[in-house]
Amino acid sequence: MTGSEGSADKGIHPAKETPAEMIPYGRHWIDEDDIASVVEVLRSPFLTTGPVVDRFERAFADYVGSPHAVAVSNGTAALHAAAFALELGPGDEVIVPPLTFAATANAIVYQGAEPVFADIDPRTLLLDPAASEERINDKTRAMITVDYAGLPSRYDDLTVQARTYGLTLIADACHALGAVSGGRRVGSIADLNTFSFHPVKHMTTGEGGMITTGDKELAERMRRFRNHGVTVDYKKRSRTNTHAYDMKELGYNYRLTDIQAALGISQLAKLPLFLQRRQQIARIYDEAFADDPAIIPRFVPGEVEHACHLYVLQLNLERLDVDRDMIFGELREEGLGVNVHYKPVYLHDWYRHNLGTKPGLCPVAERAYNRMITLPLYPRMTDDQVQRVIDTVKRVIRRHERETVAERNAYGTAAKGW
Ligand SMILES: Cc1ncc(COP(=O)(O)O)c(C=O)c1O
Repeated sequence: MTGSEGSADKGIHPAKETPAEMIPYGRHWIDEDDIASVVEVLRSPFLTTGPVVDRFERAFADYVGSPHAVAVSNGTAALHAAAFALELGPGDEVIVPPLTFAATANAIVYQGAEPVFADIDPRTLLLDPAASEERINDKTRAMITVDYAGLPSRYDDLTVQARTYGLTLIADACHALGAVSGGRRVGSIADLNTFSFHPVKHMTTGEGGMITTGDKELAERMRRFRNHGVTVDYKKRSRTNTHAYDMKELGYNYRLTDIQAALGISQLAKLPLFLQRRQQIARIYDEAFADDPAIIPRFVPGEVEHACHLYVLQLNLERLDVDRDMIFGELREEGLGVNVHYKPVYLHDWYRHNLGTKPGLCPVAERAYNRMITLPLYPRMTDDQVQRVIDTVKRVIRRHERETVAERNAYGTAAKGW
């Protein structure tokens, strides 16, 4: 799929936007066939969790190559279900990288356990296995690794670490649907893997989430958990003419509806095209920024397939006479819906007040946070919009570039020679 022409071949048409229109950082892509799938369910007897959710779970499990998939109402519920299924509770610690959406750590807090922040690798911005190993102690029960921006985690090292210390490895793969590491698709590697179908993600169900696992018992616990902890689901009730059910544990209502699952099935079929276009745009950005001295481009190791959820560049602040926020503000003024992913979780007020976390805890994440900007990236972007992003970023950066010491010296020497 190459921009507007390629996507037209597939019957999906990039939106036409006027040059002045704000280009958002992410946006869903819904077609008429997605809408038709949803309408079909609206005309059927089941609206909430029913046969279409089953079909969505099976299709999703097959796509990532995992034995079980459990659909829930959003990615946060997926993380909560994973933490619940592992029976995490007070006194337990879970290692988490700080460069993530707060939900990753919040899910641990929901269970009364404690998230322990371990720093990231400065090149990949992924959880650094050396940093996580340092934080392991007798209370550690699990590690959550985040496939930040769509780049698969250091799964080999983290799996060995988890096995060595008897920990469960959870992947927050909300950025990485479709990514591949070591020949395996993300979602089939960690013990539990969580996904989100928020509209800015690779595919959407409006709101929605999924957990994949190879462990049948954990999958069954999560299915109960999403349905108040009760033992009987819609299939058993219709099979066994009974009113009886039991609530075995305290669950929640985290159900996905058949309406959403229909959209999920339809979107999943288009995921390869969505991924292809995301990867194509990311490569165009890579090339455009590769030799810019004021930009530190993203780093992608050769052996993985990046799912390109976010395109995050870092500013070489030493070359600029302003900070990130100033550049960010000017990009917004110029019509780019840039974003920042993320303020390290432990710097949020809630964490500071309740867990006593302070700046300096993970210096690599803080340094990256101060330099990063997320550029618009979504499959429906036109080639013109991609070029507009590149031109605007370069123009704004050039405004604030200062000469390096070497350049100043070179100029000074030349001037003296005159
Ligand atoms: C890394 C990460 N984890 C968890 C979530 C939570 O997903 P949801 O918004 O579907 O609850 C998100 C969504 O933004 C995310 O990016």
